[in-house]
This record gives sequence, structure tokens and C-alpha cells, in this order.
Amino acid sequence: MCGIVGYVGRQKAATILIEGLKRLEYRGYDSAGLAVLQNDGIEIAKKTGRVGNLVKEAKHHRFTGTTGISHTRWATHGGVTDANAHPHLSSDGKISLVHNGVIENYVSIKKFLSARGYTFSSETDTEVLCNLIAYHYAKEPADPDQSRFVTSVRQALRHAEGTYGIAVISPEAPGEIVAARKGSPLILGVGDNEFIVASDVAALISHTQNVVYLKDGEVVHLTPKDFSITTLDQEDVEAVVDRVTWTVDAAELNGHPHFMEKEIFEQPAALENSMRGRFSEDGSTAKFGGLNLGPVEFRQIDRFVFLGCGTAWHACLVAEHLLERFARVPVEADYASEFRYRNSPLSGNPLFFVISQSGETIDTLGALREAKRKGYKVLAINNTVGSTIARETDGGIYQHVGPEIGVASTKAFTSQLLVGAMLALHVARMRDMSFADGVEYVNALKGVPDLVRRVLEQAPRIKEIALRYAHYSDFLFLGRLSLFPIALEGALKLKEISYIHAEGYPAAEMKHGPIALISEKCPSVFFVPKSEIFNKLVSSIQEIKARNGKTIVITTEGCELPPGVADEIITIPDCHEAVLPIVATIPVQLLSYYIAVARGCDVDKPRNLAKSVTVE
Ligand code: F6R
Repeated sequence: MCGIVGYVGRQKAATILIEGLKRLEYRGYDSAGLAVLQNDGIEIAKKTGRVGNLVKEAKHHRFTGTTGISHTRWATHGGVTDANAHPHLSSDGKISLVHNGVIENYVSIKKFLSARGYTFSSETDTEVLCNLIAYHYAKEPADPDQSRFVTSVRQALRHAEGTYGIAVISPEAPGEIVAARKGSPLILGVGDNEFIVASDVAALISHTQNVVYLKDGEVVHLTPKDFSITTLDQEDVEAVVDRVTWTVDAAELNGHPHFMEKEIFEQPAALENSMRGRFSEDGSTAKFGGLNLGPVEFRQIDRFVFLGCGTAWHACLVAEHLLERFARVPVEADYASEFRYRNSPLSGNPLFFVISQSGETIDTLGALREAKRKGYKVLAINNTVGSTIARETDGGIYQHVGPEIGVASTKAFTSQLLVGAMLALHVARMRDMSFADGVEYVNALKGVPDLVRRVLEQAPRIKEIALRYAHYSDFLFLGRLSLFPIALEGALKLKEISYIHAEGYPAAEMKHGPIALISEKCPSVFFVPKSEIFNKLVSSIQEIKARNGKTIVITTEGCELPPGVADEIITIPDCHEAVLPIVATIPVQLLSYYIAVARGCDVDKPRNLAKSVTVE
């Protein structure tokens, strides 16, 4: 949530900052702004709405400087107004700041600063931090070895409670940026006599693949020639420069109208990447390099706990089903946001897994810290190398699906399902699963990219169905067992990108309440795969048809549905239970996508949402 970009180097900062903001826009799109250090002071442009509005506004300014900061906002404190847009400028004009996060004690700091003559023109917590830095800048004598500018930022941050990723400039420190983080991501791109600091690799990848993942409590000081990192307590930090493996292409639309569509169609390749090199030589199990847990320790685990938010929580539910079904081990899947405050009694020897695409979701991070505080080992299924969750867990499994830019998660979700299925196999083979069943399971996993491809080939037909149903304003999504979480996911996808009310339910629960919603005005998307409860699923659809409900049935090849139960049928390949949730997800992704497009919604930037939820 919120994206920040700062540039110092030889090129015109404004061009680079705007390019970076466009790539970070998925993190928030309530307003955007930039500030550039010019020969005669600081020049700021900011505007509510998308980066496009800022581009128009910027034409009224002459940005010539080579040092600047910028921001795309997802509003927390204060409404969506030009005044609340970042960058903010201190009332003495000496400090300008962009910020991702929340300063929780801003009220008391504001009171302190107001009493000392500082004034405020916005309702934001950020402007308070900006003035706090200005206060220290005015007050602190410079340490002879340190620039007064860096010292004042450090001093201010020692008093700031909450979370922040910030970039700061001062007209009195030309060619310098100070950036810092605590709880919000910040990455330094190391170029040739130029540096970019940004919330996400996407903003800097077109300039450099060499990055430093800054850690909480670190402050980086940039000049066009050099950078240095210190802690808030002024201790020097030795920078580790990593190389990002993906290229700028991964963050481009490449001919697709939306990132969501691109990412849906990328899934066969993404799934290949998640599996690559992760099967044993005898082809009977999955292996992972990063679990940091040997088979003996694994066997001692008596319970797994999976934690995540939103779509990632749905992946937790599928992992629960597969681990219980194949590895015969008790599993709990919980919302990370609930787990962290519920204080649930934990006994025995549980192993925690957090699932997160971004690796920055604050609720998931909070849950992970809570489990670690209680002394438990926590591993991650995560897509973002160097993310806070990747760093704070005791090990884990990277998804390797490349950047996911569409706000609605698609390829990251199916990859999480795949990794969960591989983990279930890994554990099952340490327990009771036979070699032959392991080989069959591995072959099923290896075949999943092709199965997904076959469903994607049905996109034109799914689009036709979507066009017939795009005008409805309520939907039910129904499924059982491992497809109940996919029903939840289908409902979430539809509501988040098309603003249609949708609910996911276990199909048999329908008769305990939701059936009251059924009418010709509320269609149901119903998963009816080949299974031992096929007849029970058919009975549930009959109950819908008896009440004039429309049905879109997603079934597997070879299933014979009684005549008249389905208004629309989407047939997916018959497949192993471990991969069924992945294959069944594709039609609901496509259905939601095409319905949202038909309704004229901005699918990549749905209202009120932002990717990577870094506030509670
Ligand atoms: C929905 C969606 C969100 C995320 C959730 C967790 O399409 O993308 O529900 O799944 O915010 O995000 P991560 O996985 O980054 O922790």
C-alpha cells in the first residue's frame, strides 16, 4: 500500500520518478506526486487520482533537477485530496518527505510541534513526520562525522511509532536522499553513479538488477556517487548487493489489456517455475532446499498451522485439506489477522507456515512474529525474494512466479496451491504414502501446466458465458472439500474486481441458510467434479433448480449431469485430487475477469484496494 520512489543520479529525476510510479501504481492510486530538487529550491507537483493526472499536472512545472522523490497513495489518514497527497513539505520549507506506512503517535507529535510554531496544511500523519524531521534539522547540531540531514532523520525516527518506508530530500542538501524503513518495504537499486530507492523492485528493474534489500531500522544515505547504510543508533551496516533474476519484461503488459489477463495466461509457465528442480530423483516425492528441517524433525511435527490473508488464506485452506488427506496429519488454517490477536492455546510440536505473495502483508507478518515470540518455528510460502516475511521466517519455499502486478491475485494463488500440494506429498512420503502412490502424485503435479493450458483454451467460451451473466448483481459460489476454498476464491475474485456481491459456501451448507437467496436473480457457480460425493452435489444443484436458480456448473470430463441441472457447463480435465483445486480455479478466474471487463471495471486497479496490504 502506497508506493515510493526516490532517484539520485545524472538523469532528469522527474522522468525516472514518473516511470517508477507507473510501475508501482498497483500499490495505491488515490493520488500521486513528486518533488525535485532544482537549482533554486524544491519543486513539487501532486494531484488526486491516477499517475496519469500527475503527468498532466507535471506539464505545468519545469522539472530539471536530478534528485527527487515521489509517491502513489492509498489513503489512510486523511481523505483523497491534493493537500493530503505526498510529497509533503515541512512548514519551514526545509524538508520534503514521501511515506508508506502509518505513524501511530502522530497526534502527540503534532501537538508538540504545533506548540513550537510548526503548521500543517494536510490531515496526514506523514506531514507530522516531515515536520518532526524539520524540527530536528533546525535543532540538532551536526555530528562532525555525519551530515546534519541524516542525523535529523534518525533523530525524528527514534520518536516515530508505527510503520514507515520513507524517502526524504532537503533543498539544503542538494544531490542527497535519506531513506529508511520499519515495517514497510524499501529496496535500493544500485546503478552506475545513480541510485533508486523504491517500495518494490518493479520501479527500478529497468535501471538496474543490482539491489540491496533494506532491513527494518536501517537508514540509507544516497548521493550520486555513493551510498551508506546505518542503523537508527548510527551503527554502520555492511550492504549486501543481490541480483534480481527477473527482467523488465515481467513487469510489462506485453500486448495484454490488463495484468490480470496476462497473469492468468502465464499460469502454465508460472506453475512450471514453481516446480522446477523440486522432485526427488526417484520421482516419488517433492524436495525443497529452504525448509531448514530434516526428516527426523519433520516426523516429530504433530500439527501444521497455516496462516495467511485473503486469497493466500484460501491457499491455506487447500493445504489443510491436502495435508490431512494425504499426509494424515492434523492441520489448522487460520486468518493471520485473527490468529495474531486470538491467543489460541498451542500444544505439542506444531510447525507454522505463513503464505504470502508479497511477503509484506502486515497481518501475516504480525501472526508470524506472534508465533515466533511463542517459540515456534515458522516457515513461509512466499513469492518475493528479500521480502520481510522471507527474512523473518526460519526458512520456506519460494514460489518463483515472477512479479504479480494485477491487484487480484491469480498466478500467485495457483502457485501457492501447487506448493501446498507438493508439501503435502513431501510430508506424506515421510509418513504412510507408498512409493507407487508418490510416483502417481508426482506425475499428476508434473502434468498440471498442461491441464491448465487446456482450461485456458476454453477462454472464448467462458467469455461468452460471462457476457450472459455480467448484469447480475448477486452470485453464489458453491463447492465441497478441496473445492470449497476455490468457491471462496471465485466469490472473492468476482467481488473485488467487478463489485458484484458474491458469497462462497460449502455446497451442503446452502440449505442451512443461503438457499434463501436463491431466485432467478442470483446465479450459482457450482463445482461438481467426479468424486465419491458426486450424487450429493447433484442433489444440491437440483435444490437450486427447484427454486428457479440459474446454475453455471464446473464439472470434470466424464461426469454425466442429469438433464436440466446446468444452465451452463464448463468442463475441466479429470485429474488427481491434489491438482484439482488448481485446475478448477482457472474457470472462475476467467469468469470474474470477463464479467468485470464487460461491466467496464478497472480490473487491475479495483476501487478501494491496493496490492500488498502493509497497514492493519
Ligand atoms: C485478492 C488478493 C488479496 C491477497 C491478500 C494477501 O485477490 O490478492 O486477498 O491475497 O491481501 O496478500 P499476500 O499474499 O501478499 O500476503
